[in-house]
Amino acid sequence: MKNLMIATVATVALMASVTTAQADGQKTFQSACFACHGTGAAGAPMIGHKDAWAPRIAKGIATLEKHALHGFKGKKGVMPAKGGRSDLSDADVKAAVAYMVSKAK
Ligand code: HEC
Repeated sequence: MKNLMIATVATVALMASVTTAQADGQKTFQSACFACHGTGAAGAPMIGHKDAWAPRIAKGIATLEKHALHGFKGKKGVMPAKGGRSDLSDADVKAAVAYMVSKAK
């Protein structure tokens, strides 16, 4: 029960922090990336987890953008091209990458 309370509070805190950042990247993140990157599903690095993101950010933003746009298979799992949302523009996906990176700093 206590753990459930902590999890609930943590979720509310995460949602609150998510609603205060850059508009476009955030919107795209919530609609297209949250399913995996908001939960860690499929082995995705979770938003806000500095340890999970630091080695990725070290590869450079251009590499992360390329992997988000065209897909990437790493040690943890498979990142589908554009998160499986081929309807998104490249700019939308890049904004979502920037949003996740901004949350890992
Ligand atoms: C179906 C689940 C899923 C969705 C949806 C998804 N991702 Fe991912 N993503 C992954 C997984 C799994 C990895 C980790 C792959 C690995 O390193 O093994 C990943 C990794 C990444 C990385 C790091 C790539 C690298 O080179 O380390 C970026 C950037 C990224 N995703 C961006 C996005 C963006 C932006 C979206 C939304 C448009 C998105 N992802 C949607 C599963 C997903």
